[in-house]
Amino acid sequence: MIQYKAYYAAKIANRLGMPAEDIAALMEYPQDAKLGDLALPCFRLSKQLKKAPGLIADELKEALADDELARAESQSGYLNLYFHRARFAEEVVQEVLKAGEQYGSQRIGEGKTVVIDYSSPNIAKPFHVAHLRSTVIGHALNRIHSFLGYRCVGVNHLGDWGTQFGKLIVAYKRWGEAAAITERGIDELLRLYVAFHEAAEKEPALEQEARAWFAKLEQGDPEALKLWRWFVDISLAEFQKIYELLKVSFDSYAGESFYNDKLPEAIEELRSKGLLEQDEGAWLVRLDAYDMPPALMLKQDGSSLYHTRDVAAALYRKRHYQFDKVIYVTDYAQNLHFKQWFKVVELMGYEWADELSHVAFGRVSIEGKGLSTRKGNVIKLEELLTQTIGKIREIIEERNPHLPNKEEVARQVGVGAVIFNDLSNNRIKDIDFNWENALSFEGETGPYVQYTHARACSVLGKAGEAAHPEELAAFDASLLSTEEEMRVVKALYLFEERVEQAMRKLEPSMIARYAVDLAQAFNHFYHASKVLSEDKALQRARLALVQAAAITLENGLRLIGIEAPRQM
Ligand code: ARG
Repeated sequence: MIQYKAYYAAKIANRLGMPAEDIAALMEYPQDAKLGDLALPCFRLSKQLKKAPGLIADELKEALADDELARAESQSGYLNLYFHRARFAEEVVQEVLKAGEQYGSQRIGEGKTVVIDYSSPNIAKPFHVAHLRSTVIGHALNRIHSFLGYRCVGVNHLGDWGTQFGKLIVAYKRWGEAAAITERGIDELLRLYVAFHEAAEKEPALEQEARAWFAKLEQGDPEALKLWRWFVDISLAEFQKIYELLKVSFDSYAGESFYNDKLPEAIEELRSKGLLEQDEGAWLVRLDAYDMPPALMLKQDGSSLYHTRDVAAALYRKRHYQFDKVIYVTDYAQNLHFKQWFKVVELMGYEWADELSHVAFGRVSIEGKGLSTRKGNVIKLEELLTQTIGKIREIIEERNPHLPNKEEVARQVGVGAVIFNDLSNNRIKDIDFNWENALSFEGETGPYVQYTHARACSVLGKAGEAAHPEELAAFDASLLSTEEEMRVVKALYLFEERVEQAMRKLEPSMIARYAVDLAQAFNHFYHASKVLSEDKALQRARLALVQAAAITLENGLRLIGIEAPRQM
């Protein structure tokens, strides 16, 4: 499809002798259609060109007065461009109908590989809402990149290694029972973990004992390994239930433990590059010159840390996947951690250090309450999801009691509501999960967008043969002339650009917000115009628009990991 913005930005840039990207970055899509379909504010150019903005706009208006535009206008320092509406509508809607589920995709990433490290919950601890957020954002980034042609490798970097396993082994040996763990799974592991912390406050020697067990584990002690493996299996089985509900999967579950045998090599490399320094028996990389505390690489007892394993993992991934970029999705509490070890990789002399990006996100609370694992006050995520699904089922029961596959739709919409809630704001913002807001069919929510899609599908269903693809392809775009119709066309047009921006900014919320905009535009159109009518030509044009909206809503939802039921 013609990228109008890029096209006109190039023309203008050529005329002004400036880079096209700079012009494109200034261009806007005016909210008010009276101000054009595309506009260039000339104020910032004014300084550079030493000319009044109005004058620049005047000159550009003359230069662009060709037959591809309906008209160009210079208005208070803005250059406003007005498209030929019928031609624009024809091009956009035909493109959507033709491309279908590929609409909005591009091949920008062809031949490139992105490793996306997300979800990454910790073994023996409940799946936390922060891990849900990581899962949702990472999964969306995975889909967005794939849609743009990248080869994506989704890695679940499980927190399956570290001193906490020493603690768990000590706790199990003191207070644990195999049967209780088999029966209660992670809940029992969490109980032991909490018990350890309580006991260790009174008996500090326990910490020492725990460290010793972890050191044994790192050295491959059979008893330690066996218990550890068991804790991992119990935990993974529970995590799988959540991934199953969310329909998320990974290409690799290589967690922190996977790098255990790769640590000595990484440490050796750090040492030979003169980066390691001994400090009271521990080994670290000094980062004072970069205003950061040192990155601890080995403890006094020789055991590794989170940092060490991340460095080893990056080296391994570069070798194994030949990535062009790696994305790490975690809570912003880990900002320093990533800054530190990215720096370490850079100091090791690897240019690809700047291909590593930390995609940080804000805290999650539920109904205004924060959560903490150590104290044990966590809402189990699986419960949150199943309760949401239950509430949606009640709503469906009320609104549409004869819906055939209620269970499946309730899952799709319930899960969609939770995912959408996570993605409805810029990722760095703290968010709250509030039942009433997240589940509303009217607000800016997942159910609202899904419902809009289902509504579009229902109109198409009622049209029967009249909505056959061949029928729709013959639509007459000149009949789409109302403001409401134009607003839908414009929203459809914007999709490709938004997907690309979401990829560049690593910000899936841009697609969530886009989906709300499109849904709102569609609903305005739907309320303002009769789609099914006696006037067959008009009906065909409107049905084509409805079909294009349904396709684009579905594509947008799919990119953020949400399903789009045809009926709800
Ligand atoms: N397991 C970690 C946590 O829960 C997140 C791991 C993120 N990935 C990484 N490569 N460090 O905090």
